Amino acid sequence: MKRKMLYVGSFDPITNGHLDLINRSAKLCDRLIVGVAENPAKKGRYSVEDRLHMLDLVISHLDNVETDSFTGLLADYAKRRGVEAVVRGLRATMDFEYELQMAHMNARLYRSGIETLFLMTDPAYSFVSSGLVSEVFLFGGNVEGLVPDPVLAYMKKIR
Ligand code: PNS
Repeated sequence: MKRKMLYVGSFDPITNGHLDLINRSAKLCDRLIVGVAENPAKKGRYSVEDRLHMLDLVISHLDNVETDSFTGLLADYAKRRGVEAVVRGLRATMDFEYELQMAHMNARLYRSGIETLFLMTDPAYSFVSSGLVSEVFLFGGNVEGLVPDPVLAYMKKIR
């Protein structure tokens, strides 16, 4: 049986923490969809097109990974794409309560046995978030090593 999983997030922009999770998740399944959530209520720093482009810049070495974007409920999208599990990363303790709440809500919405699968973020990136990275970058701070090099080059190009 082919195993299909979905790694979902805002990826605004993709960080090295995200990329590590993509690499590791891709080994756990036959097909990994990296789904960029487009939330009209949450204005992102980068457009969905730019976020997808930055993802595509760094996943070309993984032949079982594809990128996509979606609007609306994650639960509906996961069902539509026919995945067995939705992957989320956990950084130390700070993500736990929010993730637990979302996982319970999604389990209620899935009603079809889709699992939420948590992977611990690499400790080297446990303090890294897209929001923090883009704020530091915006004010001219050095974010080298926190986002993949091609992503940083693109952020500089479209600044
Ligand atoms: O990377 P993020 O911003 O922490 O990802 C959050 C995300 C995209 C997983 C969450 O906002 C989401 O699922 N958005 C889609 C709308 C939805 O389903 N909301 C209810 C979640 S229980």
